[in-house]
Amino acid sequence: MGHADLVARLVEAGGLPGEWRSVFERVPRDAFVPDLVWDDDRRPVHRAREPGRWSGLVHRDAPVVTQLDDGAPDGVGYVSSSASMPSIVALMLDELDVAEGMRVLEIGTGTGWNAALLAARLGDGNVTTVEVDPVLAGLARARLARAGFRPAVVAADGMAGWPGHAPYDRVIATAAVRRVPYAWVAQTRPGGRIVTPFGTAFHNGTLLRLDVRDDGTASGRFGGDVGFMWTRSERTPHGSVEERVLPGHDHTESTTDLHPYEPVSDFDAGFAIGLRVPGMLATVVHDGAPADGRFTVYLMDPGSDSWASWRITPRPRGRYRVRQHGPRALFDELAAAYDWWRRIGRPAHDRFGLTVTPDGRQHLWTDTPDRVLDLVPDPGKERAG
Ligand SMILES: C[S@@+](CC[C@H](N)C(=O)[O-])C[C@H]1O[C@@H](n2cnc3c(N)ncnc32)[C@H](O)[C@@H]1O
Repeated sequence: MGHADLVARLVEAGGLPGEWRSVFERVPRDAFVPDLVWDDDRRPVHRAREPGRWSGLVHRDAPVVTQLDDGAPDGVGYVSSSASMPSIVALMLDELDVAEGMRVLEIGTGTGWNAALLAARLGDGNVTTVEVDPVLAGLARARLARAGFRPAVVAADGMAGWPGHAPYDRVIATAAVRRVPYAWVAQTRPGGRIVTPFGTAFHNGTLLRLDVRDDGTASGRFGGDVGFMWTRSERTPHGSVEERVLPGHDHTESTTDLHPYEPVSDFDAGFAIGLRVPGMLATVVHDGAPADGRFTVYLMDPGSDSWASWRITPRPRGRYRVRQHGPRALFDELAAAYDWWRRIGRPAHDRFGLTVTPDGRQHLWTDTPDRVLDLVPDPGKERAG
């Protein structure tokens, strides 16, 4: 199994638009993935020691973990860089809607594969890619050069874009944001497009396409099931249930009929709730096998040190115990947001859109940009501290 098989499978699945097919054929993913990667259980796989396993991970349509803990050897195992899933790479490039001669800025160089695909299509001089980790940027630059590509690879925080090569016709981010930095809009030509993964603490996430207008605003819709790692400054601080939910914490106690099935597990409900309830993470802890039906949903806001636990048992039905601690009553916020989503007609995530204005504010809407919702998109770091 090799790169040609991967491309053939993407074509067969209908996930590789015609104009990108020959580009994907010319730019092998394996030339960009490092020799050390991690498998789905976060076990290291060395190319030289286990060539078959390495190749199996690289030539399938799945993300490949290429760095943990920003390269620190003894971290918690947080995925800090990866080669994105090839069908998602193709989808995002298709959404970017490039044409010959366009200038593109990529945020999140990672392995350099996506930058190579862009450079193969548009030419080295039209592609700038920004990577926050200088070590990764250096490695990607070297791999690109070895493969015959010389786009501008910049080691910098891509939240500021890269004004040096602006204006761009297109901006593509390959790490998720909770707010679109206005710098990306300011550096895109009117008529240009921004494509970025977007999520909230509760829901990661979907894809956002913004079209930039003459008046300096950018507006567009969400759409698609696309989960990405966060841009570095928008990561939610680590913390397990054991670290956040402490035995000595005072709490209120109540019961509810609400089952978490839809509010926590439904893609569209979760997306809407995440927009409405900033900074809230959900973690599900099962007692035994998931089929037992006994589990606890923990809602946590690291920023305010609030948590809620929502205990589900199969019987008696409908009286689930809820405990809440801290200044935010997170379960009440979730229940109210779920209620709101049902009241407004249970809109699917792709009925929501976003407009970014030159003052940096973001306005969420449903269906058309004039139907603005009274919501603050998840400010992420500001709340999460
Ligand atoms: C999913 S990987 C990108 C995959 C990449 N496009 C490829 O083709 O391999 C996300 C990358 O974004 C980088 N990143 C995170 N925050 C960033 C930021 N603020 N500016 C630039 N790069 C960032 C991470 O270090 C990581 O390498």
